[in-house]
Amino acid sequence: MSSFEWNKIIGAVLVALLAIKTFDIVGNAAVSPHKLEQNVYIVAGVEAATPTASAAAAPKEIEPIGPLLASADVEAGKKAAAKCATCHSFDKGGANKVGPNLWNIVGNKHAHAQGFAYSSAMQGKAADAWDYDEINHFIASPRTYLPGTKMSFAGVTKASERADIIAYLRSLSDSPAALP
Ligand code: HEC
Repeated sequence: MSSFEWNKIIGAVLVALLAIKTFDIVGNAAVSPHKLEQNVYIVAGVEAATPTASAAAAPKEIEPIGPLLASADVEAGKKAAAKCATCHSFDKGGANKVGPNLWNIVGNKHAHAQGFAYSSAMQGKAADAWDYDEINHFIASPRTYLPGTKMSFAGVTKASERADIIAYLRSLSDSPAALP
């Protein structure tokens, strides 16, 4: 090859390198990273940066259970309470399981069962009675009603189903409490 041809080849390589470097600089400028104003990952429980997040966490209103109890179905409640039976026994003198025995719970005090290791949150309410609305709020969302409770159960969302379950719980007594 003549030196003229070599010059052409070297020139072409230099032009190519220059083009690559130019794309590199322009490309970097186009996608240059910006510093974020706040963390993208917001950790649950840590103060939310946006007001909408805390609004979403607010518990929704729970209607009084009294009117629903009048038309509640004890048999349907017994069936629905199958989801409680993993942790609770319902018979008189029944054993405590993951949760305490629930015979005669309506009108009884909080933390009523002998020999059950209640959470300190539940023990702290031992002076209060379980009236219909207290049980209603508790089984709707145990952790909203009693932060720190050991009852790891999401809750029963349907009000009529809670009424059926509470009517069933009421029936589990030698002398059931008066309806509200
Ligand atoms: C995963 C297990 C589990 C399930 C499911 C569960 N519970 Fe419980 N429950 C517990 C535990 C544990 C406690 C004790 C809570 C504490 O000490 O904070 C408890 C406590 C209670 C209490 C208070 C008892 C007392 O002596 O004060 C009631 C009432 C109750 N549960 C009702 C229900 C009903 C009704 C259901 C079904 C809709 C249900 N639970 C489902 C585990 C469970």
